[in-house]
Amino acid sequence: MKIAVIGAAGSIGQTLSLLLKNHLPAGSELFLYDIDPIVLGVAVDLSHIPRSVIVKGYSGDDLTSVLDGADIVLIAAGIARKLGMDRSDLFNINADIIYSLSERIANTCPKAFIGIITNPLNSTVAIVAEVFKANGVYDKKRLFGITTLDILRSETFIAELKDQDPISIRVSVIGGHSGVTILPLLSQVEGIEFTVEEVKVLIHRIQNAGTEVVEAKAGGGSATLSMGQAACRFCLSLVRAAQGEKGVIECAYVEGDGKYARFFAQSIRLSQDGVEETLDHGLLSVLEQDTLDNMLETLRQDIKMGVEFVK
Ligand SMILES: NC(=O)c1ccc[n+]([C@@H]2O[C@H](COP(=O)([O-])OP(=O)(O)OC[C@H]3O[C@@H](n4cnc5c(N)ncnc54)[C@H](O)[C@@H]3O)[C@@H](O)[C@H]2O)c1
Repeated sequence: MKIAVIGAAGSIGQTLSLLLKNHLPAGSELFLYDIDPIVLGVAVDLSHIPRSVIVKGYSGDDLTSVLDGADIVLIAAGIARKLGMDRSDLFNINADIIYSLSERIANTCPKAFIGIITNPLNSTVAIVAEVFKANGVYDKKRLFGITTLDILRSETFIAELKDQDPISIRVSVIGGHSGVTILPLLSQVEGIEFTVEEVKVLIHRIQNAGTEVVEAKAGGGSATLSMGQAACRFCLSLVRAAQGEKGVIECAYVEGDGKYARFFAQSIRLSQDGVEETLDHGLLSVLEQDTLDNMLETLRQDIKMGVEFVK
C-alpha cells in the first residue's frame, strides 16, 4: 500500500507518521508532504526506525510524486485552533488549502481513499466532494471525514466514569465533528446503563473535548497526539478493508443516504471499494433524538458553507 500524509511536518502529521511507520503492514510505503521543508528531515528521522515501511519526504512542487499511485491520502494540512477560536474560525484559511490540495488529488489519484483531518471537518469534506465533482471524478464511497477522535474520547470518558477498561467499550458517534453536532449514542453502549445526569455530563464533555485540550495547551495548539492515534486507527481500518478483509466497521463523516444531512458521521462497513454500507443507528433515546434534531440546522449550514465556497 502507498499511503500519503499531507501536512506531515505538523503536530498531527508527525505523530500520525510515526504511528503509521510502526503499524502499517510490512512492505507499505509512506510518502510525507508538507510546504514546510522540515518534512524532509521528518522522513529521514522516521526512516531510521527499523521497520520495513519505506518513508520518503517531499516539499515544494513535488506533490505529484507523493500522490501518484497513492492508495490512501490523509490530509492534516492547515492551521489548528488557538484559544478563543472555534473550528469554524479556521474556515477562511483551511478552505483554500483543502481546495487546492483536492484539485491536485482529483487530477493525480482520484481513485485513492481520501481521509480528511483538517477542520472545520463539517465543511472541508464538502469542499473536497465539490472539487472532485467539478473534475468528474467524485466517488462518495471513497471520501471520509475522520471523526475517530470523537470515538476515542467517548470510549475513554465512559471508561473513566464507569471504572471500566476502555478497550471493552464500543460506542458510535453520529452527526458531525464540531460542538453540538457531535452526538455519542450512549443509550446503545452494550452492558452499561447511564443516569440522565451522567448522559448530560458525558455528552457535554465529549462535545467540548477539543476545547478542553485547546485550553489545557494554553495557546499552544489543539489535539495532536490523540488525533494522531485516531487517524492511525482509521487509516489501518482502511488498509485492512483495501486488502480484502471483510466486516471492517468504523464511524466516519461520509456522504450517505442524506436522511439527515448530505454528509453525516455514522457507522459504516468498509470494503475494497470504500463505504460498502452505511449502518442504521437503531432506536435513539428521547434526549439523543432531541440532540440530533437540534444539530441539523448547524450541520447543514456548515455543509452549505463548503459547497458555496467551491461555487
Ligand atoms: N479531525 C479531527 O478530529 C482534528 C483534531 C485536531 C485537529 N484537527 C485539525 O488538523 C489540522 C492540523 O492540525 P495540527 O495541530 O497538526 O496543525 P500544525 O499547524 O501543527 O500543522 C499543520 C501543517 O500543515 C502544513 N500545511 C499548511 N498548508 C499546507 C499545504 N498547502 N500543503 C501541505 N502542507 C501544508 C503546515 O506547514 C504544517 O506543517 C488543523 O486543521 C486542525 O484543526 C482535526
